[in-house]
Amino acid sequence: MSITILAIESSCDDTSAAICKDAKILANLIAGQQVHELWGGVVPELASRAHQQNIIPVVDAAMQKAGIAKEEISAVAFTRGPGLIGSLLVGVSFAKAFAMALNVPLIEVNHMQAHILAHFIDSTPKFPFLCLTVSGGHTQLVVVKNFLEMEVVGETLDDAAGEAFDKTAKLLGLPYPGGPLIDRNAKLGDANRFKFTEPNIAELDFSFSGLKTSVMYFLQAETRKNPDFIQQNINDLCASIQRTIIDILLKKAEKAAKQYGITELALAGGVSANSELRRRFEELGTKNGWATYIPKFEYCTDNAAMIAITAYHKYQQGQFTNQETEPLARYHI
Ligand code: KG4
Ligand code: ZN
Repeated sequence: MSITILAIESSCDDTSAAICKDAKILANLIAGQQVHELWGGVVPELASRAHQQNIIPVVDAAMQKAGIAKEEISAVAFTRGPGLIGSLLVGVSFAKAFAMALNVPLIEVNHMQAHILAHFIDSTPKFPFLCLTVSGGHTQLVVVKNFLEMEVVGETLDDAAGEAFDKTAKLLGLPYPGGPLIDRNAKLGDANRFKFTEPNIAELDFSFSGLKTSVMYFLQAETRKNPDFIQQNINDLCASIQRTIIDILLKKAEKAAKQYGITELALAGGVSANSELRRRFEELGTKNGWATYIPKFEYCTDNAAMIAITAYHKYQQGQFTNQETEPLARYHI
């Protein structure tokens, strides 16, 4: 008998619903939230309200797109965390109510595990593989031993890689989220023009707050001499900042792969949409003779398809939750 799962993702500022039938994604719809642009970052209270407005229309549209009736749903899955508590609450409450009304099981999903398992939507990395997960809230190196068995072997001590992109973009006067804009401008710039501090962190952990400070002091000094410095050098600045972030990420990924003797490498999370990171990740694989896996763009940033595929594996292993469940702002893999 086939398994049909409705999955909900609402951990940050995108409301997403997906339907999978066995391991195949039939629909994956996302309602974004423009309201945050005005504020230069996600405003949690506004995010929760927008989720409340979006959730029913998005679920409805996903079911129509997939061509399934509610009676066909075998389980309802949702992101339990990590994320913004008010945003998570909307998805968790909706999932609980819908599962109860349909009298089907509930499946809770860890958002960071889901970013990793997004690979299995259309490829099959071999276990054990090493995943570099880079998002707006997290930066992790994870040894993935099996679908639901993972070990974090390195993570950021301060800002996440996505935050490093967004916060430095803000210093350059770019709107939120700045990551994609840095990516776009960097294509026209010289990545070796400016040098910024690289952290010296032991083992496999990361740090990005020093880079942000180094960019800030550099821009302050240069704009004192020339008020148009940023506008005149925007492409080179973006390219140089982007190169530094990617250098930091790939050095640790390479170190981890060698340390653990792993030859299968995967990239996941919103920052894996970055074109230069994708290129250099593949280059790293080619240089070392490692297989590399990079998700399709639509599965890099937050989406419910990754929640659905994770839930499918949990369903097969009988990992269900119940109506007592509650969201977790912090939730370790
Ligand atoms: O995984 P995600 O959608 O949300 C979280 O779980 O945090 O990641 C969002 C992050 C943001 O920081 C955004 O700027 C970054 O991913 N991002 C990018 C690009 N596209 C999204 N960063 C650099 N280059 C991109 N092309
Ligand atoms: Zn995410």
